Amino acid sequence: VRASPDRIVVCTGFTQGLALLCQVLPGTGVTRIAVEEYGQPGPVRTLAAAGLAPAMLSVDDRGAVLDPAPDAEAMLLTPAHQFPLGAVLSPQRRADAARWAAGTGGLIIEDDYDGEFRYDRQPVGALQALAPDHVVYAGTASKTLAPGLRLGWLVLPARLVGAVAEAKAMADGQTSSLEQLTLAEFITSGAYDRHVRRQRLDYRRRRDRLIGALARHVPDVRLTGIAAGLHAVVELPAGRSERQVVARAAARGVAIEGLGDYALRGHTRGPALVIGYASPPSHAYTTALARLTAAIQDQ
Ligand SMILES: Cc1ncc(COP(=O)(O)O)c(C=O)c1O
Repeated sequence: VRASPDRIVVCTGFTQGLALLCQVLPGTGVTRIAVEEYGQPGPVRTLAAAGLAPAMLSVDDRGAVLDPAPDAEAMLLTPAHQFPLGAVLSPQRRADAARWAAGTGGLIIEDDYDGEFRYDRQPVGALQALAPDHVVYAGTASKTLAPGLRLGWLVLPARLVGAVAEAKAMADGQTSSLEQLTLAEFITSGAYDRHVRRQRLDYRRRRDRLIGALARHVPDVRLTGIAAGLHAVVELPAGRSERQVVARAAARGVAIEGLGDYALRGHTRGPALVIGYASPPSHAYTTALARLTAAIQDQ
């Protein structure tokens, strides 16, 4: 990320960062915003409430499809780890996105919600670094620390800083100094970095155990999107019902979701589950895996 302190607005997570942008963007000529066809429904509701019409982008194994270029003045992307499908936006498409923004004056919002956790490949730089004057980089402590903390940050193009800072001041004055100073101390002491490294190892082990359990007990499923992040997509054999598996898992005390819950323009893929493997406490993980595979196995 190419950032100087005067380009950063600290906020209470990506959720607020997007809400602040929604107040500012209509005044800069943004009327339509492209979003990935699978994603969190919340942000799209926030955009719609601000009068920003979503234009859907297809998603494949190289991330959001940007050819043809979207009919929109802005794009919301998850380049590091597409949520929820898990692809990394390919180098070619990153270059295309940066060229689109520079050529059209378009704005990209880069939602980097879990970029700290990569397992199988080299870290990928932020898209923001390719076009700092056209990309808003949005980071959050929700995955590295805890979603309840409500801490996030926007790195903004210079032209948006004043208006976003003003929107933030009007929304809630500022994000709690106590939490910001505690995080700053955590970072400067080196403890944050150690924490992320330790968690990366732990999550990688959990992911590998998930891979092993599924391969042993339900070999007809396919696991995707697992090179990074804290969740995986489990593709079920054709004809299986997502809802039934989700309900059977819930009956066993395991909370998972169907991929259809994240389909923003209709579920066009095969049945699949979205499984967060970071949440069960360590002592409960073995049991959670056994219950999960049992829920998938049941006919
Ligand atoms: C796609 C995506 N973006 C961002 C976030 C983080 O949002 P916040 O920082 O408001 O907790 C999440 C958390 O689940 C997410 O799934």
